[in-house]
Amino acid sequence: MDLVDAAYARAESSGFPMSCERPVGQLLAALAAGVRPGGHILELGTGAGVGVAWLVRGLGERTDVTVTSVELDPRTAAVAATQAWPSFVDLRVADACVFLPTAAGAFDLIFADAPGGKTEGLDLTIAALRPRGILAVDDMRPAADWPEDFTARQDGVRRTLVEHPHLVSVELDHGSGMVLSTRR
Ligand SMILES: C[S@@+](CC[C@H](N)C(=O)[O-])C[C@H]1O[C@@H](n2cnc3c(N)ncnc32)[C@H](O)[C@@H]1O
Repeated sequence: MDLVDAAYARAESSGFPMSCERPVGQLLAALAAGVRPGGHILELGTGAGVGVAWLVRGLGERTDVTVTSVELDPRTAAVAATQAWPSFVDLRVADACVFLPTAAGAFDLIFADAPGGKTEGLDLTIAALRPRGILAVDDMRPAADWPEDFTARQDGVRRTLVEHPHLVSVELDHGSGMVLSTRR
């Protein structure tokens, strides 16, 4: 079984319900394929490892890029860690808001998929981008079953990205609704 199928299967068998949708993953793979040799990719919120699997799929045979993924919950991180990942994948158990200040200007591509670094500490995530680095955020289209406060927080993220003076952003009606932002 390939990494992506294995990741979705792992998410299902462990009861993890928050993995990124396939269209989002496909976009992550396409973005990963464009990262420069020697570049660095970061995911905030590993979950069961679905996002990492898509990023690795995008890299194909390449081993000249690192993929770091940060997960707050040790039990969830342990689920993702059951996979044998390529050596350039670094899964860390940490709070994104603690990790990010150590990583200013370090990343070419960031998938911000955790409350830490998204609804809290989005400025830290933006600061972790290299110039010309790309930030991908999903769940930007409000869903009918979202609680009101969650909808408001997500909208705050969307607005910050679209209006940020250091970012060039586009809203995409893709997957769960995405904003892609390139750091000037
Ligand atoms: C939407 S899920 C991630 C799904 C994953 N990116 C994927 O594509 O399959 C969000 C994850 O973020 C984790 N999380 C929540 N707060 C966090 C924080 N402050 N730092 C890092 N991870 C966090 C949650 O435990 C959860 O596993």
